[in-house]
Amino acid sequence: MTAPRPLRVRPGRPLAGVVVPPGDKSITHRAILLGLVARGETIIEHANPGDDCAASLRCAECLGASVRRTADGTIHLVGTGGRLRDPGGPLECGNSGTTLRLLAGLLVAQPFTSTLRGDESLHRRPVGRIIEPLRLMGALLSAEQGDRLPPLVITGAPLHAIEYRVPMASAQVATCVLFAGLAASGVTTVELPGPARDHTQRMLPAFGVPVEAKTLAHGGSRLALTGPASPLGLSLRVPGDFSAAAFFLATAAATPGARVTASGVSLNPTRTGFLDVLERMGARVERREDATAGGESVGEVTVTGPDALEACDIPADWVPRMIDEIPAWCVVAVAARGISRLTGASELRVKESDRLAVLAANLTTLGIAVTETPEGLAIQGGPVGGGRVMTHLDHRIAMTFAVLGTRARGPIEIDDATAIATSYPGFVETLRTLGGVVETGESG
Ligand code: S3P
Repeated sequence: MTAPRPLRVRPGRPLAGVVVPPGDKSITHRAILLGLVARGETIIEHANPGDDCAASLRCAECLGASVRRTADGTIHLVGTGGRLRDPGGPLECGNSGTTLRLLAGLLVAQPFTSTLRGDESLHRRPVGRIIEPLRLMGALLSAEQGDRLPPLVITGAPLHAIEYRVPMASAQVATCVLFAGLAASGVTTVELPGPARDHTQRMLPAFGVPVEAKTLAHGGSRLALTGPASPLGLSLRVPGDFSAAAFFLATAAATPGARVTASGVSLNPTRTGFLDVLERMGARVERREDATAGGESVGEVTVTGPDALEACDIPADWVPRMIDEIPAWCVVAVAARGISRLTGASELRVKESDRLAVLAANLTTLGIAVTETPEGLAIQGGPVGGGRVMTHLDHRIAMTFAVLGTRARGPIEIDDATAIATSYPGFVETLRTLGGVVETGESG
């Protein structure tokens, strides 16, 4: 266990400036893991530099990929052509649910036994949702607490293609099944009940594996690939992570006179639902799409804080397009006139922390009137006081309260900011560049 790293953010002037966020975490994980099973070399520029993607990279090395990183962070990864090496010990996924769930899909057909495990937070996150479809494909795997929680133990077995309806709009589950489908004979089909990030179906064809993707009436999708299929290494540049930029964009929206631009950021529509919400609440949002990279659109977004924001309800069907931005949305909801209600968001209870409970507890500490419901929150806008908040090893909770500290009435102290490094090691520096007053080190 490393010592906790507290962080204190003092109220200051409205944030202003340009953010160039790190490479997208979801896209980086997928590129590393597909690179691992691909033939030939995969070159990943502007890879996410955080601990979560480092965990995927370390696992890829343990499984036989040969990895070299250049000074600018570019990853050069020579893949295994699908024949992974027995790691000879547990695969450490750290705090990363994406590493564990996606890698499981690649391990189920390998001729050895492997164990996927991680930190305390990861061991509280459900794996039953991937065990069920993988078993239907013929996989042999088990987990703790009645096959509900990691560690996950996988013994390779021959797989067959399935047609599977994912019960929740989870891109991780869909990706896990499609990854397993690469080694199964026949057409593996996955149906998602609602919109979810679509990076996998954009990236697989770039690796030479066609995916048939259909959008369904309810906003969900049906994805199919034919196995066995063998991905071929590629070169790609990862766009900036919208979810990382969202903390600064939220703060700009919540502070009259603030103006923040995120540059080189992914504008994939399955990820940018939060911008639509900011506009509805009265913030000025300007988007400029500049280019596409690896099948993903990239551009610039500027958010300007208006004099007043209106409360806005988030219905269940909006949640998937802003699932990782709900913590940042709280920064905006507390600044709005009236009560903002979030519904249909029970998935937030199984993220790096129980985000509904942790957001409610921390907002209450800071003097905000908030009600926690089984599937959501109701937040009454109002003045934010200073105080000490708890992150529970959750990077997005830490970053939410750090940016909130810039517009609170007193300093906000974060008990332990270590988790920020899982996705955004340069976060504090960026916050300072935009005008944030941040103190690191032990509290007095
Ligand atoms: C991710 C999918 C989402 C998201 C997570 C990353 C991915 O999780 O919250 O941060 O890269 O596929 P779910 O698929 O569980 O919704």
